[in-house]
Amino acid sequence: MKIKQNISLKPYNTFGLDALASHFVEVSTMEDLRQVLTLKNYPNKLVLGGGSNMLLTQNFNGLVIHVNLKGIEIVSENDDFVFVKAAAGEVWHEFVMYCIHNDFGGVENLSLIPGNVGTAPIQNIGAYGVELKDVFYACEAISIENQTIETFKKTDCHFDYRNSIFKNEAKGKYIITSVTFQLTKRNHQLHIHYGTIASELEAMQIKIPTIQDISKAVIAIRESKLPNPKEIGNSGSFFKNPMVQKSHYQNLLQNFPDMPNYPISNEYVKIPAGWLIEKAGFKGKRFDDYGVHKNQALVLVNYGNAKGSDILKLSELIQKTIERLFGISIEAEVNIL
Ligand code: EPU
Repeated sequence: MKIKQNISLKPYNTFGLDALASHFVEVSTMEDLRQVLTLKNYPNKLVLGGGSNMLLTQNFNGLVIHVNLKGIEIVSENDDFVFVKAAAGEVWHEFVMYCIHNDFGGVENLSLIPGNVGTAPIQNIGAYGVELKDVFYACEAISIENQTIETFKKTDCHFDYRNSIFKNEAKGKYIITSVTFQLTKRNHQLHIHYGTIASELEAMQIKIPTIQDISKAVIAIRESKLPNPKEIGNSGSFFKNPMVQKSHYQNLLQNFPDMPNYPISNEYVKIPAGWLIEKAGFKGKRFDDYGVHKNQALVLVNYGNAKGSDILKLSELIQKTIERLFGISIEAEVNIL
């Protein structure tokens, strides 16, 4: 384990932003992780997993810890379920492919989401009607302060839409080191009614889909809408879909009769932020080396050499415009550093 100095974080964030870390260490064992956390001369620490949910707007003066713990194992199983424990540094999509290959059901709708296993619970990743919480059994996390290992069961995590205890009370206090998933071995619960999955399966001429088919359909949809971070820097949805009061939505419908919504409760609906941003005229707009993706307005992109601060300014302009046009405030989903 070696602490390096003045390292560019460009390869470590999916936005491809070139911020410098004054100190950087990669940890691949629990022992190294424990040791790094006891180092007293780095009060500022930043934990990086897949770097798929962060916007680096400045250099980082402190120690960046790149968690690279690897390993996937079955911890227990019965006729119906298998409990699989994956280390935090496993690439999320590779873990999904392991499940698909072994016919373990539950994560197929979450195919091709960028990032690592260890960061997935923090924002309760979700897509096409499934969220991480639906397959989450428990996770282990190491306390940054005293290096004890704690187990968080599902109810401990306070999962909500793109939210968990790790973005609130536990923020900055723990590093997730592994996640245990509860997956089905038979009678897989298929979720095919969200978004365009059903029509994609139809186009694939599949009548009775397997989890393998669903994974393929999700991959095809994502590839058609979302830019591949290896080609165009991005961090998926930049904003959360806002919740608005039904009465406000009803008023807006008078001027915008085609405004879509997802019902949430008697009082609230969720509006797709991508629709609002498109309506505000930002979809596909390019400013120098950054902009709004042409196929999904919720995704801000770096075409090569953009600065994080430029993308932040664009996001603020989008927020102000949406507020002015619709009286709706939209909140960033990515972490801004
Ligand atoms: N829409 C537009 N214009 C756009 C984008 C979307 O009008 O440019 C409309 C669509 O027509 C559709 C609605 O908005 O009616 C929803 O669009 P989509 O199905 O693409 O989903 P989303 O609500 O924009 C959410 C997640 C995505 C996830 C998809 C599919 C959030 C913040 N985003 O996007 O998650 O992949 O649903 O489940 O909830 C991510 O979190 O990084 C992410 C990509």
